[in-house]
Amino acid sequence: MQPYLVVVLCIISSSKADINNKYFPESFQFGAAGAAYQIEGGWNEDGKGESIWDHFLHYNNPTSKVIDGTNGDVACDSYHNWQEDVDNLKKLGVKLYRLSISWTRILPDGTPYQVNQEGIDYYVNLFKALKQNGIEPVVTLYHWDLPQHLSDFGGFLNPQLADYFAAYARICFENFGPYVKYWMTINEPTSTCGMGYSMGLYAPGYTLIDGGMYQCAYVTLLAHAKAWHVYNDEFRAQQGGKVALGLVCSAQMPLDPNNPKDQEAAERSHLMGCASFGNPVFVGNWPQVMIDRIAAKSKEANYPFTRLPVFTQEEIDLIKGTSDFLPLNYYSSSLVEYIDELVGFPPNAWFDISVVTSANKSWPQAASPWLTSYPEGLRIILNRLNKDYNPSEFIITENGWSDTGELDDQGRITYIQAHMSAILDSILEDGVNVTGYTVWSLMDSFEWTAGYTEKFGLIKVDFDDPQRTRTWKSSAKYYQNVIATRCLLNQCE
Ligand SMILES: *[C@@H]1O[C@H](CO)[C@@H](O)[C@H](O)[C@H]1NC(C)=O
Ligand SMILES: *[C@@H]1O[C@H](CO)[C@@H](O)[C@H](O)[C@H]1NC(C)=O
Repeated sequence: MQPYLVVVLCIISSSKADINNKYFPESFQFGAAGAAYQIEGGWNEDGKGESIWDHFLHYNNPTSKVIDGTNGDVACDSYHNWQEDVDNLKKLGVKLYRLSISWTRILPDGTPYQVNQEGIDYYVNLFKALKQNGIEPVVTLYHWDLPQHLSDFGGFLNPQLADYFAAYARICFENFGPYVKYWMTINEPTSTCGMGYSMGLYAPGYTLIDGGMYQCAYVTLLAHAKAWHVYNDEFRAQQGGKVALGLVCSAQMPLDPNNPKDQEAAERSHLMGCASFGNPVFVGNWPQVMIDRIAAKSKEANYPFTRLPVFTQEEIDLIKGTSDFLPLNYYSSSLVEYIDELVGFPPNAWFDISVVTSANKSWPQAASPWLTSYPEGLRIILNRLNKDYNPSEFIITENGWSDTGELDDQGRITYIQAHMSAILDSILEDGVNVTGYTVWSLMDSFEWTAGYTEKFGLIKVDFDDPQRTRTWKSSAKYYQNVIATRCLLNQCE
């Protein structure tokens, strides 16, 4: 045997040995995830209005926005193929399906003025079919597809959006509440506020690097909180569901664990990232370090006020305590290095944080440049959030691996096995109440700026075929077996 093969085999067997060999608790629910713009297609059918992603990719040079110049006009065509999606979910054996509602399918211009019955019917039929097959929908109200009309009003820069969002949420609770027990208001606001309102890479494509992200964060938190209060005041008693804000977090670890400066930088990176949304909802207000640093950096740049919106006490109280569970998206983690304060013009979030983050070179790299595999990081961040926020339950609402589309997707199997193992460690050894897992994603779909070049699906979709034929990959069969046996290996104890 050649020496390098021996090395490879040792790595495989030692990593397998680390996989938790206990059974998942009976109450643990396995699932799969997706989002409206990424899978539905039917972008202008049956009364649906235009969203910011429709607009962003129809009226700009598409290849400047999306690597392969594609869009979500058809995507997986789940608007027509939803019954096949339900069949696949049933065959996998999942108990949870995470999906999002397209706001403009329900309210074509985003306002409560006109409700589109055909849009309501689409989701009611889907929810009924899921429930008939014993699958609980986990429903995101907003997965990045803002109505274009409301974007013209300023979108997430305009605090009045919170009222529009609460009105939309009420219509969803009224119509879909009987079928839905888990609601997520807004998915991964760190991504949309940063990419959409500061870096300009996501719709609506604003490059307001000095403060767009903070204003968006402020409006997002108000919108989430108002929707939560609508549910709490008007629907909870009757419907008994849970409502929460969807966070994306990762472990921020000091590059040199023994260097106090790196430790401080890593902590700051966590507080000004994940905790910028977690703290207002679970603790009240922005983290103090975020308030202090942005105020100081604003002053240095001659602003007579801070670029971070200041919450009134009334707003702090409105937002605090508005998460009935903790939906966590986790993909990878970062090593954080201390650097001297970045200064320059214009002031921006990058300077405000002033740290350098990287991945460990030994972590396996996915097709997506931002995605490396560090399963231990999931256990670390779960422990941290459990300690800081003590939510009644966690659901891992996204976690997955991208490749270039091979059917025998061993890289994905390795990734999801290792991450589910980290979840089991958290449950059994750390006492963290993780009750479910919805893998990203059920099938290959439109991956925003990566278009169709990065594949995350358990199920392949042929995007060249008008029928959008679905084919199971090896990972789908592996996951099906995990669900059937509640065990990550061939045998558990
Ligand atoms: C990167 O990972 C390797 C292998 O796990 C580990 O030995 C090393 O300490 C890590 N490096 C850093 C900077 O964390
Ligand atoms: C975990 O969460 C579930 C669902 O909310 C709840 O029924 C259960 O009691 C919780 N378990 C613990 C140990 O807190």
